[in-house]
Amino acid sequence: MSGKEDTAQARVSGPPASLVGRRITLCVSGSIAAYKAAVLARALLHAGAIVQPVMTQAALQFLGRSTLEGLTGRPVRSEMFEGPGEPHVELARWSQLLVLAPATADLMARLAQGRANDLITATALCARCPVALAPAMHPAMWEHPLTQSNAARLRELPGWSLLGPVFGEVASGDEGLGRMLEPEQIAAALPVLLAGSEQSGGSQPAAQLLSGRRLVVTAGPTAEDLDPVRSLTNRSSGKMGFAIAASAARRGAQVTLIAGPVALETPAGVSRIDVRSALEMRSALQQALGEGAALADALVMCAAVADYRPQQPSTAKLKRGTGTLTIELVPNPDLLAELGQARVGQRPFLLGFAVETAAGGELIAAGRAKLVRKKVDAIVANAASDALGTDDTRAVLVTRDAELPLGPGSKQLVADQLTEFLAARLQEG
Ligand SMILES: Cc1cc2nc3c(=O)[nH]c(=O)nc-3n(C[C@H](O)[C@H](O)[C@H](O)COP(=O)(O)O)c2cc1C
Repeated sequence: MSGKEDTAQARVSGPPASLVGRRITLCVSGSIAAYKAAVLARALLHAGAIVQPVMTQAALQFLGRSTLEGLTGRPVRSEMFEGPGEPHVELARWSQLLVLAPATADLMARLAQGRANDLITATALCARCPVALAPAMHPAMWEHPLTQSNAARLRELPGWSLLGPVFGEVASGDEGLGRMLEPEQIAAALPVLLAGSEQSGGSQPAAQLLSGRRLVVTAGPTAEDLDPVRSLTNRSSGKMGFAIAASAARRGAQVTLIAGPVALETPAGVSRIDVRSALEMRSALQQALGEGAALADALVMCAAVADYRPQQPSTAKLKRGTGTLTIELVPNPDLLAELGQARVGQRPFLLGFAVETAAGGELIAAGRAKLVRKKVDAIVANAASDALGTDDTRAVLVTRDAELPLGPGSKQLVADQLTEFLAARLQEG
């Protein structure tokens, strides 16, 4: 590859750290939204990425190659058959991330079929790095069952993510779901994809990403006492929350970890408050977050808080009897919803977890419903079988505009993906 890495590097100004020095291939296809690829290229360059533009023949009808060449300092690639060598193999090896924005219905159809009839599809087939698509099309095209099944197929591929589309006005003046996610939002979603990729190797030390940020993380189960020796609890191990606290502290954050009853070591550099019940966790949260939650930049609610507690825990050990035993349960407060409803403005950033027995689309829908109901910024939705008590996990990070795959991999890897995501979101202001 002919490189102008230093040109891109020279344009860095206050970048989201995790795109610094990353090699991103920006693939543009033939939508009216192609002009937004120029804005996206700028955002990526400002974030410190090295951007290689690729355009389909149709994209060249919408946006002149000089625009992207001028911005990126690199020649636009659009031909399979130019020069010696195999451009798709070379591009796939070079890329740490492929961003297809805008992605047309036709491009998605070609990709879903595994076709390789142009430089973008051939490169995508060859690439083993994360691939992010930002679809853009008329709502009627997006809603068509064929496009929907192509989108579902692409979403299922490991390492592939769809960012948007979103609801809004499209080129024809019609309104609906089909508008491309705004370039700044696409750029903000990319660090999490890179963090999950083994090929990522950013040049900025991880320690700086959350420097000066204050994070509160809850972890583990709660235990609701029935009597002095018995309790109602759940199978949360606390490993995910502890991994997030450890990852955030390694990235320079000041971390308060509120832990339910677990036997895990406190991660280095983390302040820990131990609690048992949901009500104790609520008090510890009030203490850690302060008046108006002003003491935290972000809250990660990873704890599996009991929905109910015994109405009247017995002060003496309950004795064995011969008949059935009925215990009255009363609902616990929904700690995350309380905070979401009380929040004024955008801080603290609220990240919740949703463990469900559902999977696939149902799991994502449950995560999105929780996000809206609890008025939070992002939800990690995972299947109980993937998450409870395990060392490895996989999940989907549901935000207002996107669904990003997390893992599969160790909880440490997923924690790093989440703290990279938080760092990028907090940097947005
Ligand atoms: C004015 C105009 C606007 C278009 N906008 C879109 C669009 O937003 N999304 C889309 O999927 N196709 C759109 N198309 C159709 C694509 O350009 C067409 O399917 C083309 O073959 C896509 O090629 P590509 O995927 O190789 O870029 C548009 C076509 C025209 C003429």
